[in-house]
Amino acid sequence: MILALETSCDDTCAAVVDGPRALSNVISSQAPLHARFGGIVPEVASRHHLELVNGVVEAALDEAGADLDDVESIAVTRRPGLIGALLVGVSTAKALAGSRRKPLAGIDHLHGHVAANFLEPEPLQPPFVCLIASGGHTLLAAVRSHDGFETLGQTLDDAAGEALDKAARLLGLGYPGGPAIERLAAGGDPEAFELPVGMTRDPGLDFSFSGLKTALVYAVADLSEPELERRRADLAAAFQSAVVGQLVAKLDRALQAGEWRAVALGGGVAANSLLRERTREVCDRHGAGLKLLPTELCTDNAAMIGSAARFVQPAPYPEYLAWDASSQ
Ligand code: KG4
Ligand code: ZN
Repeated sequence: MILALETSCDDTCAAVVDGPRALSNVISSQAPLHARFGGIVPEVASRHHLELVNGVVEAALDEAGADLDDVESIAVTRRPGLIGALLVGVSTAKALAGSRRKPLAGIDHLHGHVAANFLEPEPLQPPFVCLIASGGHTLLAAVRSHDGFETLGQTLDDAAGEALDKAARLLGLGYPGGPAIERLAAGGDPEAFELPVGMTRDPGLDFSFSGLKTALVYAVADLSEPELERRRADLAAAFQSAVVGQLVAKLDRALQAGEWRAVALGGGVAANSLLRERTREVCDRHGAGLKLLPTELCTDNAAMIGSAARFVQPAPYPEYLAWDASSQ
């Protein structure tokens, strides 16, 4: 059994995994605390992690019917993320592991998102290509083995979820913006506004969302207050369509080489129905299978960190006591 902790952003998470099975996966979301600021405030996140982390670890052990002595090793997200938030998880993990002289594995958060696909009920076997789109990251990962991945392309500026959050703010919607945009877009016409799908002429697999964001700023500035009110749903639909359009276009390009037979989606944006639908179409066209995770394994969670830890050599006591976290 592995006890895993994840505190890289605004969710305080702990889980117990036993092989490919998650025995518990406790997530304490801070989203409502950050909503009034319209986005995550790093220092607020760190302070709440500090208050929540011990209770969340206890709940994860309880739910798994385990105590610390049953656990063979501990795993924690060490990079990348908000530095203060990461430090809470790393310090807690060091204390838990150090007090029992247990080994500790330091995990890359993005390896965690990939490794969510190795969990039951239907573990996916490499090779596959994984599109990860969240509030902090947007990348295409080539997964050829369980112990890591190669980045095929990534965003050059904003993450897809970050772009959706900023667009939602501009349209006067709440935080997190992705689900709010999706709800509003359901009643809008995606073709009512012509917003640019970025990077389509770029031959590589990188992403960019800042031009799209600027285009939305100008589209909004051109409208009078009552007109904006009337056309908000159309703007949301056009923006969502442009974000999803770019994600799917790059996935399509990655599949064109014909190497990949399976695709997985991860990150909070993977909850988006339009993205799921359009990804399915691309996979069908290329004859590739598509694995869709339940939402709680797409968004940040600790079961995915425990899953990655199965394939990472942990550091013995006391080596890890000198560890730092890294924002990059
Ligand atoms: O993975 P996640 O929970 O946290 C990290 O950022 O690591 O992802 C959160 C992001 C936010 O930007 C949120 O707006 C977006 O995922 N999101 C969605 C949806 N649900 C969450 N974006 C589009 N459609 C959704 N249904
Ligand atoms: Zn994440």
